[in-house]
Amino acid sequence: MTQGLFITFEGIDGAGKSSHIAELAQALRDAGRTVTLTREPGGTPLAEKLRALLLHDAMDALTETLLVFAARRDHLQCVIAPALARGEAVLCDRFTDATFAYQGAGRGFDLRVLSEMERLAQTGLAPEPDSMLNPDLTLWFDVPPEVAAARLAAARAPDRFESQPVEFFTRVARGYADRAAAAPRRFARIDSAQPREQVAAQILAVAAARGWLPGPNA
Ligand code: TYD
Repeated sequence: MTQGLFITFEGIDGAGKSSHIAELAQALRDAGRTVTLTREPGGTPLAEKLRALLLHDAMDALTETLLVFAARRDHLQCVIAPALARGEAVLCDRFTDATFAYQGAGRGFDLRVLSEMERLAQTGLAPEPDSMLNPDLTLWFDVPPEVAAARLAAARAPDRFESQPVEFFTRVARGYADRAAAAPRRFARIDSAQPREQVAAQILAVAAARGWLPGPNA
């Protein structure tokens, strides 16, 4: 059976990842994969309820972090781990790196506590109950916070995170850079200040280099 594939998409708000997730999903389907598309916080009925609270209700950093991990645990158990066990490709819009970037670097929550919660939430799951379930690849959409802020200003009404000042996103961006430096093989940096087509090409090249898509000359 085909091995499951877990790909996450990360970056500050306004980094422009959404349309590219659908495009990579289609490319993987064209290559014969079954794809599960999902997002965090969310992806299950319970986690979507928690998402609505997280994005719109005021709360402190600890409450925020507990809710994010509660949503993640349910999502992992009900959707991600079963799909991986079936050999599917799971494409997830944000995952634990977002918690380190937003709650950790952004809100100042203790990174050691986050690591412990990460281990708890991501262990004891199929297909490998004894090890921690981590993404195989994280596509990190890196863009200067000022560029992202300008993109957001042109979009819809901001949620609780999107309405943060640019300094918050400067910290979040640094949080992502630290996570990328700590796991260089898992992370692929996508320069998402580039035009759309070039961003798409970077993503397909990363997937092809890992042998998940036919190469450019195939
Ligand atoms: P986002 O992907 O930006 O959703 P949308 O494109 O619909 O706005 O995610 C929602 C927000 O949740 C985003 O601002 C980041 C935040 N978030 C955290 O703060 N911590 C987390 O662990 C996750 C997964 C997301």
